[in-house]
Amino acid sequence: MCGIIGYTGSKQVRDILIDGLQKLEYRGYDSAGIALHNGSMRVIKSPGKVHDLVEILPPALDSNTGIAHTRWATHGGATELNAHPHTSSTGKLVLVHNGIIENSAQIEGFLKNKGYSFISETDTEILLNLIEYEYLANGKDIKSALVKTFSLVTGSYALAIIEEDKPGRITLCRKDSPLILGIDKTGFYVASDIYAVSEYAGHFIFPGNNDIIIVENKSKITVYDVHGNEKEPEIKEFNAAKKKPDRCGYEHFMKKEIFEQPDILSDLVGSEYKIEGHLSSGKNFNDILHSISRITIIGCGTSWHAGLVARYIIEKYARIPVIVEYASEYRYRDPVINNHDLVISLSQSGETADTIAANRLAADAGAITMGILNVRNSSLDRETDFQVFLEAGDEIGVASTKAYTAQIIQLSRLASIIAALRGNEAKSQEILDALSQISSNLRYFLEKNSNITDLAQKYASSSNFLFLGRGLNFPTALEGALKLKEISYIHAEGYPGAEMKHGPIALIDIDFPTMVILSDNENRTKMISNIKEIKARGGKVIAIINEGDTEAEQIVDDVIKMPSVPDIISPVLSVVPLQLFAYYVALLRGCNVDQPRNLAKSVTVE
Ligand code: G6P
Repeated sequence: MCGIIGYTGSKQVRDILIDGLQKLEYRGYDSAGIALHNGSMRVIKSPGKVHDLVEILPPALDSNTGIAHTRWATHGGATELNAHPHTSSTGKLVLVHNGIIENSAQIEGFLKNKGYSFISETDTEILLNLIEYEYLANGKDIKSALVKTFSLVTGSYALAIIEEDKPGRITLCRKDSPLILGIDKTGFYVASDIYAVSEYAGHFIFPGNNDIIIVENKSKITVYDVHGNEKEPEIKEFNAAKKKPDRCGYEHFMKKEIFEQPDILSDLVGSEYKIEGHLSSGKNFNDILHSISRITIIGCGTSWHAGLVARYIIEKYARIPVIVEYASEYRYRDPVINNHDLVISLSQSGETADTIAANRLAADAGAITMGILNVRNSSLDRETDFQVFLEAGDEIGVASTKAYTAQIIQLSRLASIIAALRGNEAKSQEILDALSQISSNLRYFLEKNSNITDLAQKYASSSNFLFLGRGLNFPTALEGALKLKEISYIHAEGYPGAEMKHGPIALIDIDFPTMVILSDNENRTKMISNIKEIKARGGKVIAIINEGDTEAEQIVDDVIKMPSVPDIISPVLSVVPLQLFAYYVALLRGCNVDQPRNLAKSVTVE
């Protein structure tokens, strides 16, 4: 799971590679490295983040061809030896890889029998030496070597390769991991996503699975299919230039992104609900909504939690069955899918490997697919039938905040559209009326969130935390727990209030605090009983309550007061104090808030 960048052309490559690596750090930041071809090949790599690599790079590196990589470790620790680019045994090939080779143990055995040995613990080094083995066996023809390799490996890969004997050439290919080729007047850019190179390139090729593309001599492109037969390059024009992300005076992107929410959500609620994309049958999205009998929402991490909130809203207001599933489970359980299913891939990045694969499975089985996404031109943008965008701007903090609330809004608006289409105008309007109250209430809360820093101070030394919610706010409990563990490394579990009695209550003692979400009226009385059960066992309780709920205030240890809003939007409001709580606790514990250890913004391997 990693980021790949490469360039060959008439420009100097050093700064293009560094700039691209920084833009791709959302895909992993365990180590980074670059390889240059300047008559001979040179590889420089370093454990740690891209800035650690930059510190050891000479200020000038004369080269017009190079590839680079930022890594999220899968096989082998975050060491210099395991960092990419890797060099083949004879030094003929240098390669960067995003993906996982599943049969690497078997290939390793094969290569060891041929006399190969390995210096790293990576599947990538094994793959590279298999390519080299075939390269040497095929008269140093990289295309033939790759065609043979495809038939021998299982797994996912995006690869960029440079050859000692071919200065000015990069070969790229991919299977199930993203890789694009950007083109400008000066030469070619290889990257894991468009935005790493969109500042330079205006034309792109999106290679299909196992296409092989060789770019060389500043302007020559040759594309081959999986069998090695030459095919016409399909070049598309895109203007995808983006501004560099800016913290706008905030210490961290995460804090900026939390505080941006009132503006982003009010713009979203006030905007037209734009559904992009089309079906080859010509059917529009409203026709589809009439014919579907079920909605399946797939996603990972925080996106999955947003899907859980949406299930309550869509089922309650639009009366259509909704399944919400982890993409990683859905893709492997042989689900029953038919052409009356609308499958929604919920993904901030549009690049999460499991969500992409689950979407493909649904599409192949005949479902209508839709992406609710933040990043345009991402893999899921290209691969879904219809798209709705979050319009939340770049989300840089690894812990998702504004994308989560925007996802809930866009799904709630979809619920309103479906309710109206099914003849229930009143329910449809009820959703819209509630959504219109979010921003002002959120802004009011954020302006006076006075006690969250004090609470963070009080609870930052806890080793464990339980988060409880019910109904619409059960997912809020899951999300609050996830935020805390992601960035402060405190063990936290989210549970539905009633389930607490089936296990977690055994953990409760004076050192095991519970955060209870008590801000929706539907479940308030039941949650009050749950709080009493915790208090009866000596547990400490912080509760997110509505202003004026003095009964709750009296029975808990600490409160966070929220303005009272319609239940349907309470998950959007109640999650914000939990985002802030996690943020302040992480700061107090000295954690890297924007780039927490072991995580990546986008999980591009399964
Ligand atoms: C990673 C990120 C999470 C995110 C999840 C799904 O785990 O750290 O913040 O929720 O991936 O990502 P997606 O881009 O598909 O929403």
